Amino acid sequence: MTFETLHQVARWLGCQKIVLAECGSTNDEAARLARAGAKHGTVVIAERQTAGRGRDGHTWTSPAGGLYLSAVLRPALPLVDVPPMTLAIGIGVCEAARQAGAASVLKWPNDVLVGGKKLAGVLVEAQSQGGKLDSVIVGIGVNLSNEVPDVGISLAQARGVAVDRDVFIGSLLAAVERWVDRYVASGIEAIIPAWQDRMAIGLSARATVDGAPLVGSMHGLDPDGALLLRDDTGRIHRVRSGDVEVLRSAY
Ligand code: BTN
Repeated sequence: MTFETLHQVARWLGCQKIVLAECGSTNDEAARLARAGAKHGTVVIAERQTAGRGRDGHTWTSPAGGLYLSAVLRPALPLVDVPPMTLAIGIGVCEAARQAGAASVLKWPNDVLVGGKKLAGVLVEAQSQGGKLDSVIVGIGVNLSNEVPDVGISLAQARGVAVDRDVFIGSLLAAVERWVDRYVASGIEAIIPAWQDRMAIGLSARATVDGAPLVGSMHGLDPDGALLLRDDTGRIHRVRSGDVEVLRSAY
């Protein structure tokens, strides 16, 4: 069966879909809809973004041809359990890219790479009220057939043939839904092995640990979802936050 004939259908993710020709950021649109009462699973998709953003204030350049999708989730979770959700969503995105024929792997915490180049990224933002989680906005950007700079790759380039946008969206929603359900039902222990199976193990990277730069190779995940980076003496370091920059790729 080809990717185009392999139909997987999400149950609740995308129960309501809003498609826009252009917006600033689909995460902002979804956050606005969430504040206005949008239900769990509402999805906003834009053909272009004029103010797309990534983690740590980076810009996510969003020309036509790419996929810019944000979802409103209302999981029954405490606020502290929101950040690891990024890992669950990354698995779903990686799985959808693999189903589409791209040899994708995960780079901690939120990137999907093919051949060491960025195919997709995930930006999870929480909205709370009185210290309680109100909604989670899950933003996913995928280079589908848009022009990308050299550090990036599109799904069309990775597969060598154009991708059917609607089929990919269907597959992505089904895969992300599956992993979100798993995370919400069973917690991070249910996610870590699957994340490590798809992880770019051995990828050389630079990170910041306790304020100091560190170069090492990606080794695995701690039980709490922190990245484990191995330096050239064999020592393992935990990376909890901050950027991890890929230096050399064997993928
Ligand atoms: C990253 O790699 O830093 C995350 C990139 C996330 C980009 C997506 S595109 C859809 C949604 N809207 C945004 O403004 N950002 C996310």
